[in-house]
Amino acid sequence: MQGFDRIETASRDEIAALQVERIGATLRLAYANVPHYRSAFDAAGVHPDDFRRLEDLARFPFTTKHDLRANYPFGMFAVPREKIVRVHASSGTTGKPTVVGYTAKDIETWAHVAARSIYAAGGRPGMMVHVAYGYGLFTGGLGAHYGAERLGCTVVPVSGGMTERQVQLITDFRPNIIMVTPSYMLAILDEFQRQGLDPRASSLKIGIFGAEPWTNAMRTEIEYGFSMDAVDIYGLSEVMGPGVANECIETKDGLHIWEDHFYPEIIDPDTGAVLPDGTKGELVFTSLTKEGMPVVRYRTRDLTRLLPGTARTMRRMEKVTGRSDDMVIVRGVNMFPTQIEEQLLKSEALTGHYHIVLTREGRMDEVVVHVEARPAFYAPGGMDMEAAVVMARIKDTIGLTTRVVIEAPGAIERSIGKARRLVDKRPRD
Ligand code: DLL
Repeated sequence: MQGFDRIETASRDEIAALQVERIGATLRLAYANVPHYRSAFDAAGVHPDDFRRLEDLARFPFTTKHDLRANYPFGMFAVPREKIVRVHASSGTTGKPTVVGYTAKDIETWAHVAARSIYAAGGRPGMMVHVAYGYGLFTGGLGAHYGAERLGCTVVPVSGGMTERQVQLITDFRPNIIMVTPSYMLAILDEFQRQGLDPRASSLKIGIFGAEPWTNAMRTEIEYGFSMDAVDIYGLSEVMGPGVANECIETKDGLHIWEDHFYPEIIDPDTGAVLPDGTKGELVFTSLTKEGMPVVRYRTRDLTRLLPGTARTMRRMEKVTGRSDDMVIVRGVNMFPTQIEEQLLKSEALTGHYHIVLTREGRMDEVVVHVEARPAFYAPGGMDMEAAVVMARIKDTIGLTTRVVIEAPGAIERSIGKARRLVDKRPRD
C-alpha cells in the first residue's frame, strides 16, 4: 500500500543513503553549536568527520536524560533562542523537567511525520479527529493537532479530562478518529456505558493510541468495545513528540519508524553494545533533520526490538514492553506491568483498569494486583475463584506469586493522560 510519502516505501539502499547524509549533517550541527556535544565527542575521541558509514555511529557517545537535565533549560539548543518558536517539557518523576525546543522548520517536520502517522493509521483528508491527549507542555495534544491539520482533517482540540463532555462531543460532532492514551480511552468507554449509550454505535472508527505501554490484549478490548481499529503511535519529547513511529492499519504488526527523520539503534542497556535487528534491548534514536535541538544517540530506556518492514520498507519496532525504569525485580523475577495486563485481560470478568502495588512485609516483597471487575460479572465477596485463576495464570506465565484483588466497577482511579500502573511502597534501601 502506498504511504503518505514516497520515501516510506523506497528501497533500503535509498533510505540508508539518506540516513548517512543526514546523520553526518546532524553530527556536524551538534558539534559546532552545542557545547555539550563538542565536549562529549572530544572526550570520546571522535569527530563528525569520522562518520562515513552507518556503522560508524556506534563510535559516538550516547546522550541521556541526565545530559538534558544538566543543560537545563536551554543548553542543548543548537540555534540562538530567538530561532526557537516553541518549547515543550516533560515533567518526569523527580527533579527538573526536560526541556525541548523546536525551530519553525522543526514544527513543520513534526506536523509532517504526525500527518504521515495518522495516514498510516487509516486517516484521510476530510475526516474529523477528536484529540483527547493533553495540550500544554506535554507534546501529545499539540503534536496530534498539527499532524491532523496537516493531513487535512477537521480537528476537535478537546484535550484530556471532563470525561462526560468528551462523550457528549463525540456523540454530537461524530468524529471518525480519536487520539488519546489507551488507558483514558477505557475511561471514555465506561462513560458511554454510564450514560446508557452504545459505544459500538459511535461514529469512531479509528483510535490512535500511545504515550504509554499497552498490550495487544488491550487492543482487542478497545477494538471490541468501540467496534473500531486501534493503532499504536509512539514518540517522545526528547526526539520530537508523537509521530516518531506508527503502526499501519493494514497490518497492525508493530510500529514503522519514520527512518528518514529518526535513526534507530537497539543497544544492550548494560554494556551499550549495538545489538542486531531482531534482538530485544534499549531503543536509541539519533535525529536526522532536527535543527533546534538535534539529538545524537539518545537513550530512550524503552525496551523493544527492530523488525524488517512489512506494510512499508521502513523498519518496525515491536510494541514497547515498558521502560527499563518500569521493570521491577520482585524476589528475583523481572516483571513489567504489561505482562500482568496481558494475563488480566484473558479473563472475561476483568477490565483493563488496574494497578500494581508493591509492599514489603518483613523481608518479603509482596505484589498486589488491583483490578476492576466488569459490572455484569461483579459479585461482592464472590470473586475469589476468579482471583485464584488469575493468580495461577500469572504464576504460570511470569513465574511470580501475586495477590489479585478484584475491585468493584469504578473503584480504581481513572487516569486522564498516562496511567500510573505501578505503586512501589517498598522502603528504599
Ligand atoms: O508520550 C509523546 C506521545 C504523545 C507519544 C502521544 C504518543 C502519543 P513523553 O511524554 O516524552 O512523550 O513520553 C515518552 O512515553 O519514552 C515511552 O516510554 C512512552 N511511550 C510513548 N508512546 C508509547 C507507545 C510522549 N506507543 C515516553 N507505547 C516514551 C509504549 C510509549 N510507550
